[in-house]
Amino acid sequence: MPAFPTLDGAPLDGKRVFVRVDLNVPLKGGVIGDDTRIRATLPTLTELLQRGCTLVLASHLGRPKGPDDAARLAPVAARLGELLGREVRYLATDGPAAPEQAAFVADAPDGSVTLLENTRFDPRETKNDPALARVLAGYADAFVNDAFGAAHRAHASTEGIARILPSVAGRLMERELAVLGGLLDAPERPFVVVLGGAKVSDKLGVIERLLDVADALVIGGAMAYTFVKAQGGRVGGSLVEDDLLDLARQLLGQATERNVPIVLPVDTNCAEEVKPGVETSVHPTDAIPDDLKGFDIGPKSIADFRDALAGAATILWNGPLGVFEVPPFDAGTRAIAEAVAASGSMSVVGGGDSVSAITKAGLADRIEHVSTGGGASLEFLEGRTLPGVAALGAVPWG
Ligand code: 3PG
Repeated sequence: MPAFPTLDGAPLDGKRVFVRVDLNVPLKGGVIGDDTRIRATLPTLTELLQRGCTLVLASHLGRPKGPDDAARLAPVAARLGELLGREVRYLATDGPAAPEQAAFVADAPDGSVTLLENTRFDPRETKNDPALARVLAGYADAFVNDAFGAAHRAHASTEGIARILPSVAGRLMERELAVLGGLLDAPERPFVVVLGGAKVSDKLGVIERLLDVADALVIGGAMAYTFVKAQGGRVGGSLVEDDLLDLARQLLGQATERNVPIVLPVDTNCAEEVKPGVETSVHPTDAIPDDLKGFDIGPKSIADFRDALAGAATILWNGPLGVFEVPPFDAGTRAIAEAVAASGSMSVVGGGDSVSAITKAGLADRIEHVSTGGGASLEFLEGRTLPGVAALGAVPWG
């Protein structure tokens, strides 16, 4: 039994339901770069529609500080309508509580789907202002939170509203928490974790927590240079968080004490700067020339990382292993994406960049679980309470 209420048995049939989803998709010039997060909402929305509900959906998109034409949800409403195979009502407004928005919601026919304007157009959203939560709660009889990607935010449409309406988790939220929770509680072993990304500071909490659970940690991306420098290596002009060198040494020490190998890249593909077509050369990661910077793991490291993944029963991967947006520095990330997909293990991939590497390579359907959460999955894996989950069930059904 999950520790939070779910759609199972919730008295939602025929009700007006406020569903918080995370439709924060990459959007450029009105074109959606990746609709994974929109698709991920379909199981919950379809189930609620089959149960005769009238749906009022809400999401943020980007980080606007007020109404902003570039962050309107119009393209998202259109794509969701295509995927659902039915009209998604949408009105461009100054925000989810604007008077025209409230009138538009009041006019929603039974069984319809309405998508509110970007929640962050209203500055009260990120302040978790109860006045905004009350307006949003007034649109419905019950609240379903399916926005796992925003569950680490205590905002009016994620946490505040759950203090007013009876609430449950949607199917996506339920699956994310079950899969990620399973990694922490009882992973099938060996459990190998691959972490990448630019900064150790973003992953510190996760590394500390996972040293208790994982059988091996593979670290790539720019964060590896901080660890290599902490061991006395010369990493040239590569990105290093000098203020974290002591901490990196402590983590390496803890890993040794717990007998958890940390696999670092032994070689690195370097250049003077990141740009397509730039001259590159491979160097040992602990002997990078001063005038060069590391931008991707090298061929020996790719082989080492593959070896570390071979035989894993469970793999968690979060963060790219190089500057994967700029070829040829995408080679390491692509190789690891292929190795994870081919592993046949219980594989979980999270974090926007690794997910987009997997999707671009057409490998998503060979991954057991592609998490829609970036920051949310990291905070969950650190063992932190997610406010959007903790508030669920706070209000009894009337
Ligand atoms: C994400 O993209 O990780 C979520 O949608 C949360 O977005 P935020 O970091 O802007 O709150």
